[in-house]
Amino acid sequence: MNDSSMTKNKKLVQWVDDMAKMCKPEKIYWCDGSRNEYDSMIRIMVDSGLATPLNREKRPNCFLFRSDPSDVARVEDRTYIASKSRDEAGPTNNWIDPDELKKTMKGLYDGCMKGRTMYVIPFSMGPVGSPIARIGIEITDSPYVVVNMHIMTRVGQKVLDVLGEDGVFIPCLHSVGKPLAEGESDGSKWPCAPIERKYISHFPEEKTIWSYGSGYGGNALLGKKCFALRIASVMAREQGWLAEHMLILGITNPEGEKRYVAAAFPSACGKTNLAMLIPTIPGWKVETVGDDIAWMKFGADGRLYAINPEAGFFGVAPGTSEDSNYNAMKAIEKNTIFTNVALTEDNDVWWEGIGYDAPAGRIIDWTGNVWTKDSGKVAAHANSRFTAPARQCPAIDPDWENPKGVPISAFLFGGRRPSTVPLVHQSFNWNHGVFLGSIVGSEITAAAISANIGQVRRDPFAMLPFCGYNMGDYFQHWINIGTKTSADKLPKIFYVNWFRKTADGKWLWPGYGENSRVLKWVFERSAGKGKASETAIGFMPTEDAIDTTGLSVSAADMKELLSVNKEEWKKEIEGIREHYKKFGDRLPAELKKELNALEKRLS
Ligand code: GTP
Ligand code: SPV
Ligand code: MN
Repeated sequence: MNDSSMTKNKKLVQWVDDMAKMCKPEKIYWCDGSRNEYDSMIRIMVDSGLATPLNREKRPNCFLFRSDPSDVARVEDRTYIASKSRDEAGPTNNWIDPDELKKTMKGLYDGCMKGRTMYVIPFSMGPVGSPIARIGIEITDSPYVVVNMHIMTRVGQKVLDVLGEDGVFIPCLHSVGKPLAEGESDGSKWPCAPIERKYISHFPEEKTIWSYGSGYGGNALLGKKCFALRIASVMAREQGWLAEHMLILGITNPEGEKRYVAAAFPSACGKTNLAMLIPTIPGWKVETVGDDIAWMKFGADGRLYAINPEAGFFGVAPGTSEDSNYNAMKAIEKNTIFTNVALTEDNDVWWEGIGYDAPAGRIIDWTGNVWTKDSGKVAAHANSRFTAPARQCPAIDPDWENPKGVPISAFLFGGRRPSTVPLVHQSFNWNHGVFLGSIVGSEITAAAISANIGQVRRDPFAMLPFCGYNMGDYFQHWINIGTKTSADKLPKIFYVNWFRKTADGKWLWPGYGENSRVLKWVFERSAGKGKASETAIGFMPTEDAIDTTGLSVSAADMKELLSVNKEEWKKEIEGIREHYKKFGDRLPAELKKELNALEKRLS
């Protein structure tokens, strides 16, 4: 479709018109979300050399893309929350006055789509028509974005039908920021703008997103982090619900009882893996509802119900193997887009940690060059990713598209902490649990472009890069949620850490499928069972409470994993005080109280 006959929504038609006047594309194309559309867009990119078709026997309908080396991850330094006041954005977000930012960006957008097609993508976050779902319209000049949105969201006429003549949508404007001169084409070169001209901007009062200059991941697939987290977190606060950077999984015990757990870990800290894990303890089963984002609302019964607003997985490739994540490996066997992984001679994909050595023959690395093992370089970028339809995951939960969502029994918070934080502890109550979420710390990963990869930073609720308003108010919102229902209906809250290291830098805990042992304790505790002892930092499993049958971790390591080192925690308190200082008056009194109480318990 190349006209707006697909909708009678006047606001939408007007907005597309206005944006076209500003961006000056060669043509406008309204996306219908069809297989045909997907195929023809892929074909255009294969013909130009931007996409490489993969081996048809091994990976049917799969394609590889290589991005520009400067455009490989989210750009947190160039991500803005442009609320009217700086205070509303808060101390953890980059802020520019919205009028000033719009002026700058209008300058960039002016003529930015010259020589390109402007695609209009109507998409639904959440099952089309579900009362929890929300509609967005992404305008983009990137066919790569279109095909990714096809997988990650629900796209097409059905969305416009639900939108109707006067339904509301979130306008999401995106351009790669590389206008073409007369006769110029990208060829096989990934179009984007240099870092200092990239802007990933959010206008929370207007609920509008403007992204410019990047074609990669969360910078460009605007339904994901920009809408479903940054803008949705603002909506959630206004309307009394939660939009969180959380996986959702269902866990069933050998007796057939099922519970749902949602877990917030920072980027590249194990959400996809936990969401799809295969338990190593016999008789237990884990099923996947979502691997990155959860929207949660109270049901009529006073419990929190979660939906996964996405329809696909945009997962980290390196480290994904049949051993570590069998279900992901199955999900990416067909109909998958790979970005920045390595290419084997027989046109299959390869990455570090795929579970086998790079096969013999020529290997092309993520930069498009021939790669050798002894080059000292990685073949796949550390933030290389797969985009795969969620329905292809063998462990997908039967209720993953249930418009009512699934009832949540437990929240987990966690991150990469080489020391201090034990394998698992449970909060004493809701407010203490909010405290645990607020103090999450983690090593910076390759999911965002940063000079400080590996350094521990505070990443409260794994939402540091994704909260669309003042993080102090966000903490308060979480405290308030705890007053909306009775304590027995609230999810129990836990803090986990799969990433403890020995003095010589080895993992103390095997992780992956073995994390089911911790999930089992979480399951039991949220059912009012499971043995625990009270420590200064929270409830911890008693020595025999974690099922270690068949586990290859020594008793001494197990002891270390479940120990509370008071000296380390006293240092931690100093760090938390520093962290809290930033929020000034906006820090909820309840959290100050929790911190003081922790300090007292440790002395
Ligand atoms: P985003 O998509 O960026 O939000 O990441 P994510 O939180 O979904 O992380 P993911 O599950 O993709 O894991 C990121 C990296 O951590 C991968 O290389 C995994 O192999 C590794 N990883 C995941 N779980 C574990 C674990 O339990 N232990 C260890 N040591 N590594 C893990
Ligand atoms: C993350 O960084 O948390 C991701 C990848 O899930 S991206 O979509 O790029 O945000
Ligand atoms: Mn994520």
